[in-house]
Amino acid sequence: MKKELMSFYNGVNRKGIDAIKWDAGMMRVGKADLIPLWVADSDYETCPEVKEALIERTKNGTFGYTYTNPNYYKIIANWFKTRHGFNINENHIIITPGVVNALYFLVHSFTKPQDKVVINTPVYNPFYEVVKNNGRVLLENKLVRVEIDDTLFTYKIDFDDLEEKLKEAKMYILCNPHNPVGRCFTYEELDRIVSLCKKYDVILVSDEIHCDLIMEGFKHCSVGNFFDKYENLVICTAPSKTFNVAGLSNSNIIVNCDELYRVFKKVYDDMEIELNVYGYEACKAAYIKGAYWVDLQNRYLTLQREIVYEFVKKHGFKVSKLEATYLMWIDMSKLGLKQDELFKGLIDNGVWVNKGTMYDSSCEGYIRINVACGRRQLLDGLKCIENFIDSLK
Ligand SMILES: Cc1ncc(COP(=O)(O)O)c(C=O)c1O
Repeated sequence: MKKELMSFYNGVNRKGIDAIKWDAGMMRVGKADLIPLWVADSDYETCPEVKEALIERTKNGTFGYTYTNPNYYKIIANWFKTRHGFNINENHIIITPGVVNALYFLVHSFTKPQDKVVINTPVYNPFYEVVKNNGRVLLENKLVRVEIDDTLFTYKIDFDDLEEKLKEAKMYILCNPHNPVGRCFTYEELDRIVSLCKKYDVILVSDEIHCDLIMEGFKHCSVGNFFDKYENLVICTAPSKTFNVAGLSNSNIIVNCDELYRVFKKVYDDMEIELNVYGYEACKAAYIKGAYWVDLQNRYLTLQREIVYEFVKKHGFKVSKLEATYLMWIDMSKLGLKQDELFKGLIDNGVWVNKGTMYDSSCEGYIRINVACGRRQLLDGLKCIENFIDSLK
């Protein structure tokens, strides 16, 4: 392993710091000391410059109320300009304490009870909840699985069905890059999506929290590239996944349209949520100094992906081709087990993964694993899965 990748390769043991991923096993699944391949955070240290910025800020010893210096918005805009190639109106960024709560309030602010909201399933489970918990009606545009070869499959969007659903919808929440199937949608796909939203006057909310976690050979395309084409676009971003700072509650929501911006800004202003000083500092350091580190991480994740591909091939399972994110979507349905039997078998053998049915109730036999960890942790986790498979023979 190259020297510059060693901090990823070595990983970090997070036991004993109340990390959900490591320490909540007994409470959540009745067993402690599991190898954690679930939850979307990373088991290696954040970028050194982010850690340093937090240490520096800590030295001051006061953690009182903090305001958002206008320079913060310039830093965000510069990141998206230089990394993703589009311009953001700096006056249209709203800081929220997370993406999921922003999604909840976007639904709340821009739709009315009984309005219809489209999502692509399978998808990150809170997408269902932010719609249903607001009393809105969910319309599922199912992603279509396409086989690539004996090991890999991928997903494409069923545009005919999407068009039918958008005709009656008020909002479409897109996950791009997509958790859990690992797609980063192409320019052509996004162009079609944006055109359809424009045609049917649907507000497009694009959750792009994973936009910087891109496998080598792929490129993230943001709906930000279509700001001039259609006004009613919203992008949800955060440094949280990319820089392993999800516990610091900092996200940046970009609302393209003036009117929608004003409505959404008022919702957050009215709640009087204070800025998280550590999240604020981490975000600035990440976006000013962290680009080189993101590239290294993507190199490392691309290597981790290959380990999983080999494992899946060896055991005759199939996995969704990973274009982006650090989450891998494995189809183990050939074992013929019910989801709970599969999950319990894996827990009994010492590894904690996410159940496929979390993301779509029809995905029995799928699991989602997180490869943002040290190499030993990934190999040990895969060994536990192998032990379970062997125990069935
Ligand atoms: C697509 C997506 N959106 C949002 C989140 C969570 O965001 P937050 O912790 O900022 O609410 C995740 C976490 O896994 C995710 O995968």
